[in-house]
Amino acid sequence: MTERTVKIGLSLGADICWPICYETLLNDLKLDIRHGGERLSFASERVTIEPFNLQQPVSYDVVVDRLTHWYSTSREWIKKGILLDDLYVYNNPWSLQSNEKHTSYAAMMRLGMPVPETWMMPPKAYEESEDLQETLRKYARMFSMEDIGNELGYPFFMKPYHGGGWKGVSKIDNLDEFNRAYDESGKEVMNLQSAVLPHDWFVRCVGLGPQMRKVNYDPSAALHDRYRADINFLDADDSSVLEDMTVTINSFFGWDFNSCEALRRDGIWHPIDFANACPDSQVTSLHYHFPWLIKANLRWSVFCAATGRSMRKNLDWDPYFAIADKDISQREKLSAYAKLSHERFETERFREFCQTHLSHLDELAYDFFASDVMKDAIHQKVSALFPSHEIEEFTELFWQRIQDWRAAEGSQGDPDGF
Ligand SMILES: Nc1ncnc2c1ncn2[C@@H]1O[C@H](COP(=O)(O)OP(=O)(O)O)[C@@H](O)[C@H]1O
Ligand SMILES: [Mg+2]
Repeated sequence: MTERTVKIGLSLGADICWPICYETLLNDLKLDIRHGGERLSFASERVTIEPFNLQQPVSYDVVVDRLTHWYSTSREWIKKGILLDDLYVYNNPWSLQSNEKHTSYAAMMRLGMPVPETWMMPPKAYEESEDLQETLRKYARMFSMEDIGNELGYPFFMKPYHGGGWKGVSKIDNLDEFNRAYDESGKEVMNLQSAVLPHDWFVRCVGLGPQMRKVNYDPSAALHDRYRADINFLDADDSSVLEDMTVTINSFFGWDFNSCEALRRDGIWHPIDFANACPDSQVTSLHYHFPWLIKANLRWSVFCAATGRSMRKNLDWDPYFAIADKDISQREKLSAYAKLSHERFETERFREFCQTHLSHLDELAYDFFASDVMKDAIHQKVSALFPSHEIEEFTELFWQRIQDWRAAEGSQGDPDGF
């Protein structure tokens, strides 16, 4: 039997805490997996940035990418790795590059999801360019802000069509605010979206492969308190709607790791922001939920690397549209999308893999999250973000919340059973 070290690359930007945890736990796991006639051990390595020959082979089996949504050299390196070396990457870089938030709205509307009514506006201002004036003079139609506001109805949200970190998002209550916000939007292309207000739940459902974590989210709280620590706050029906929605969105776009924000009003879950394919992974935001993320990431990356899971380079949307066009209820369609998505994520094979090869992860993680390495990772992250007089206090706070996770969930394995 041939022996081989499987290599997992971490393509990182400013991340500090989660790679430390990921790397330590991957080592602690001491994996020795027999697959397809090979005996596999595992190593991770941080991907460096340097000039490369397009024919130079990529030495990784899987790359967990957190950088290429804004750093194009690495994005092109990753794309050539997929094309020339059969690399598996999450997330699909072509999909990440081309499917803006606006596209994700259109796509999920096509699948019948209750995305709130959404408009797109041409930008208020432009960079001068050779063809600009002629194009606008010929084709830009005059429009009435008042008519659009009335047709959509107040309040609504104005937000950049590509999304991202709450920048340029405003709630619009009347025509004056609409005019002001449009003037201020400048060269940004904006969406207007009917407000789901009031809502009784705001949930972020984080998906990593077929693993899901639903987090009660409070956008009005301070940054370190937005992810609430409660679990099991939803009944089984609500949970399954959110999970089915998230797994559908993620498999549709080829995003192994993505977070879906949905608001519930009158019993209906409206997805409002689900093109977040580089989700927050910091202990300073996730705190209580952070261990889940590390474990889920380890499981999925090891599975993909060990089994040589093939990456879907082309998204292939027709099977989803075929379901959308069936004469069945929306809930039945959602279940059918989810079934297809789980086939694409190989959920059953993954579950079996975890049971066979990763059953010792729970116990190792339980110990690791009480270790000095963990505490130091928190300290490093907090030191990078907080003023010096708050470093000890917040290190302690996040540490304590991780210990709360250990007490409540840590010894039992994860709620989704992987
Ligand atoms: N349609 C909506 N209804 C209610 N609240 C919304 C809506 N759209 C956005 N918001 C609020 O604005 C915040 C930022 O908007 P979001 O679409 O999530 O943008 P970003 O990509 O910047 O995260 C949301 O977290 C939510 O609080
Ligand atoms: Mg958001």
